[in-house]
Amino acid sequence: MEQGLEAPESGPVFLNGRFMPLNEAHVSVLDRGFVFGDGVYEVIPVYSCHAFRLDEHLRRLEHSLAAIRLVNPYSLEQWRHMIGELILLNPWEDQSIYLQVTRGVARRDHAFPEITNPTVFMMSTCLTTPSQDLVSNGASAITAVDFRWEHCDVKAIALLPNVLLRQAAVDAGANEAILVRKGWLTEGAASNIFLVRDGVIHAPPKDQYMLPGITYDVVLELAHQYRLPLSVAPVPEAWLYMADEIWQTSSTREVLAVTRLNGQPVGAGVPGPVFKRMYALYQSYKDTIMRGKDGLTPDIA
Ligand code: PDD
Repeated sequence: MEQGLEAPESGPVFLNGRFMPLNEAHVSVLDRGFVFGDGVYEVIPVYSCHAFRLDEHLRRLEHSLAAIRLVNPYSLEQWRHMIGELILLNPWEDQSIYLQVTRGVARRDHAFPEITNPTVFMMSTCLTTPSQDLVSNGASAITAVDFRWEHCDVKAIALLPNVLLRQAAVDAGANEAILVRKGWLTEGAASNIFLVRDGVIHAPPKDQYMLPGITYDVVLELAHQYRLPLSVAPVPEAWLYMADEIWQTSSTREVLAVTRLNGQPVGAGVPGPVFKRMYALYQSYKDTIMRGKDGLTPDIA
């Protein structure tokens, strides 16, 4: 364990069936996650000790595992139980749970080992959502060519393209790279992207070129429930430059306006009215979770 990597106030982490202090959690250098990036992951936000949309995250994990032909090492009930325990063992009300499953330790060979013993790791950190300043002023983004693979719907731990793309954004003084594949919007390097034109919310449909975001689903559900004009259809790159509003969504960024794109203002250069409405709806929806209720409620308009 490198010095300084262990947050002293953090609670235990979970590794292969046991909770333990972070500095006791060790994985072999022959783990296929380390050698090949052969594994999948989830990031689950926790509000007031309630895991947000837990079953949806666990369903997506199931999808990712099936896509890389790895048997889910735990039942849904076991995952729910272990995640609940991890939340209780950590000191924060709002947390971000990171979990990953790799194809485990084996002699280095690209092909699957004959016997697979997956490595399961989970940790919690304090959830840091965008500051009030960022919510009020919006973030900046760049556009970039989406040079990732053909299975972006799988939440794979092999994130080198996403790492390079987001670093390109950071190098340009922006916080996200908005990705374009053959002239069509896909998503962000670490978020889903929406835009608004003439009062209509536009979202690219789920396909193999984007991660099916859990936050994306909540935004679509809220738009349906509150009858906000919505179009889920392929979004041409050109629309990004004509948009009145652009938003990014993710479990850690929630819903965040992008107010500068490639150094130019988006629309009026401030978070727009449709964003403000969706942001308020999203925060109210979160409140219902904090009160222990799940599901969309009719009383948050
Ligand atoms: N990433 N697209 C990509 C490529 C992502 O990495 C993420 C989130 C999303 C949004 O998905 P969700 O709404 O389920 O968080 C879309 C997480 C937060 C991460 O890698 O840290």
